[in-house]
Amino acid sequence: LNTIRECDFSNKKALVRVDFNVPLKDGVVTDDTRIQAALPTINYLLEKGASVVVMSHFGRPKGKKNPEFSMAPIAKRFSELLGKPVVLAKDVIGSEVAAQVAALNKGDVLLLENVRFYAEEEANDPEFAKSLAAFGDVYVNDAFGTAHRAHASTEGVAHYLPSYAGFLIEKEVKFMAPLLENPDKPFVAIIGGSKVSSKISVLESLVRTCNTIVIGGGMAYTFLAVQGHSIGKSLVEEDYKETAASFLAKAKEKGVQVILPVDHLCGEEFKEDTAVIKVDSADIPQNLIGMDIGPKTVELIVAAVTKAKSVVWNGPMGVFEFNSFANGTLTVAKALAQSSATTVVGGGDSVAAINKFDLADKISHVSTGGGASLEFLEGQVLPGIKALEK
Ligand code: 3PG
Repeated sequence: LNTIRECDFSNKKALVRVDFNVPLKDGVVTDDTRIQAALPTINYLLEKGASVVVMSHFGRPKGKKNPEFSMAPIAKRFSELLGKPVVLAKDVIGSEVAAQVAALNKGDVLLLENVRFYAEEEANDPEFAKSLAAFGDVYVNDAFGTAHRAHASTEGVAHYLPSYAGFLIEKEVKFMAPLLENPDKPFVAIIGGSKVSSKISVLESLVRTCNTIVIGGGMAYTFLAVQGHSIGKSLVEEDYKETAASFLAKAKEKGVQVILPVDHLCGEEFKEDTAVIKVDSADIPQNLIGMDIGPKTVELIVAAVTKAKSVVWNGPMGVFEFNSFANGTLTVAKALAQSSATTVVGGGDSVAAINKFDLADKISHVSTGGGASLEFLEGQVLPGIKALEK
């Protein structure tokens, strides 16, 4: 990757793509992790004498200038965190914005309006990309969370300007790429979440380098079913049984240990206040729904993590948004936090769990990508990153 260390920024205008797609409530940013994660790059560019034009999408306004999706609340938080004024541009492109860009002095920060106010953004329209590129002498991409999208601001502009990766993209790649190539071993991959269909590609990718794969969460029941276990009323994807079976066969052939739940916490109904019923076996009685892994499974996972030199975790182990079924996910989060291994957590739900339990600073790397980190771990080439290659 070309990184920002390789460029002289003095008196240059840097056009910087970040991922400020953050959660808002009542017009206030409720989680500014992604804004914080972009600050090292922005501060570096400013220290090196650049003026910066920052751009991001927020939500999915579908090509319409919908004020609900304005960057205004984000500009406010960005300015607070940066400790200096951030001017919110009047639009994304156009003569007024061009004038605002032209007026920038060294050290100034302008944030463009939501790039998705124009349908041309997601269409990766070359003319739109050129209009954006006109706002900078160089392009810096630090939007890891959006690197899986080949959009005008993440991929298109790289065709028109010298392009560099920011520190966040560099860090994400530094932690995640080795997992697919040469991880420190033993390497344990813990994959959860509700659907086999959305995680099968990541399982198939990681099985090439890991020693142990833990399969938890709702998708585990499909795997248990193909092994002949009864799963009661638990989630099952009939269409994915064959895929699950061939994955298990592949893991066996490669000598990769697969840990599936050996006990469960169940409920009679999928409700927060359903009574917790402990099932001390891999088999779930007919009337019950598996909603979390049981204590014996937790012990197996903790033991594997304790011996590991690298661990990646993507996806919760149970219905952790319900307090009585959060234990499996919580213990996995804690095991990673206590581990001396290189620990990487990616994917929206597991990151939410880490944050909910306040453990982020004890993890080697918490990815800012949801879909992007999943696609990265699947071994896919992310267009936003490819565009920055030397
Ligand atoms: C995300 O939050 O995963 C990224 O910002 C990408 O958003 P998108 O799924 O709307 O492209």
